Amino acid sequence: MREVDVFVIGAGPGGYVAAIRCGQLGLKTLVAEREWLGGVCNWVGCIPSKALISASKLYRKAHEASEIGITFTGAQLDWGKLQAWKRQVTKKLSDGVGGLLKGNKVDLLMGTAKLTGKNSAEVRSGDGKVEQVRFKSCILAAGSAPIEIPGFKPDGKRIITSTEALELPGVPKRLVIIGAGAIGLEIACFYRNFGSHVTVVELMPQVLPGTDGEVAKTLHRYLTKRGIEVHLEAKAKSATASATGVKVEFEAGGKPHVVEADHCLVAVGRRALTQALGLDAAGIQLHEKGWVRVNERLQTNVQHVYAIGDLVGPPQLAHKASKEGLVAAEVIAGKKGAMRDFVTVPGVIFTDPEVATAGLSEEDARKANHDVGVGKFPFTASGRALTAMETEGFAKVVFDKKTRLVLGVHIVGPEASDLISEAALALEMGATVEDLAWTVHPHPTLGEALCEAAEDAEGLGIHTLKRAA
Ligand code: NAI
Repeated sequence: MREVDVFVIGAGPGGYVAAIRCGQLGLKTLVAEREWLGGVCNWVGCIPSKALISASKLYRKAHEASEIGITFTGAQLDWGKLQAWKRQVTKKLSDGVGGLLKGNKVDLLMGTAKLTGKNSAEVRSGDGKVEQVRFKSCILAAGSAPIEIPGFKPDGKRIITSTEALELPGVPKRLVIIGAGAIGLEIACFYRNFGSHVTVVELMPQVLPGTDGEVAKTLHRYLTKRGIEVHLEAKAKSATASATGVKVEFEAGGKPHVVEADHCLVAVGRRALTQALGLDAAGIQLHEKGWVRVNERLQTNVQHVYAIGDLVGPPQLAHKASKEGLVAAEVIAGKKGAMRDFVTVPGVIFTDPEVATAGLSEEDARKANHDVGVGKFPFTASGRALTAMETEGFAKVVFDKKTRLVLGVHIVGPEASDLISEAALALEMGATVEDLAWTVHPHPTLGEALCEAAEDAEGLGIHTLKRAA
């Protein structure tokens, strides 16, 4: 029997971060992990997909570099070697997590954990050994798994989830993707850069539903320009696998479509992994949408049991999970932590070009009855973007004309994923559009786009001409 202050179930970016902070705060902590130290994010999500995305951009650029006088002869892809490098990266990070847990005196048990009561759990390891655990507090951080839809039963080979999509035996000639969300579009972009013919089937009227409409439309244009075929308001019907491929049927524009491909990736969202956690044994209640219900302090209805990350619903983002882990750990340690409004949890989609958002979209700002003002700056006018051959997209600042407060920042373009942190801080600090405009931004950098977008809000952009009224 293990007796601990805090038992953490799941060592993804929610669980391992929570466990480390518990250790730092002097709590005797044990974390159980079924399979992946570092979680889905580290092994079959954020990290390996980013490795492939970076590699694919390099590959694309190698082929485009002749435009600036650099010709690579025979730039070729060794898929096996790329996969090996990708695995090396994930292993290195996972080993790092192990080291950090150890260094913070957190014990780790590899095995599948479930609650057996309000203060007890068991952990079953791969060899069938079962360990009993008694805890004062527990943090549930078991994550999520891909949603399945009728007619598209994943077989791991032809009809696949994102997990298999990152480990295909080679670059597919033809790939169909159901869902133009974050996963679908990131994978679409890197396989397209590697030369696949990609068809995306999306139910809603825009890609990345919920994202600022102008940003989504612009991204859609670039996807099409790159040669990705996107069908909106399209109803996925079925996928039929054979030894040589898969036949995908969908309906779009009132017409039936049939596409033959090597694989069909189903990326229509992820569901909270609540089933095998023994929630009933502890009397823990679920939200009607299947998530674990928690309050601002991440407490379930059983106060000393906390839940974080994908398990408690959207946004299903690693950085949100990590922050929730910190809050849960601090609350357990008797500190005053609480999750605040998620408006300032930035979102980043590593498409090519990237999309990043923080705060309210223009549409949502209008719906919320703000007196909305908008400033924009296109990367075509950025010296740094031109010198990096990355002029696609724009930065956009949404603000309230009365209070001057920045409400949201939306970027489609180069390094959007890094640029958005400044916007997140601006929102966090309650910055006005003038604060953004008058902050000295170094030249020549992509970050100047935010400053210029804020200046454009008043028609005072230096490197853009005032738009006709
Ligand atoms: P998602 O919710 O982002 O997108 C799913 C898409 O599938 C939506 O556009 C939806 O309208 C569409 N869809 C649903 N049912 C459909 C159907 N029957 N036919 C056609 N389209 C349909 O989910 P996704 O992409 O699977 O990602 C899961 C989670 O992981 C998301 O919450 C996402 O934010 C997160 N994630 C975040 C990343 C990042 O931060 N860079 C990268 C990858 C995933």
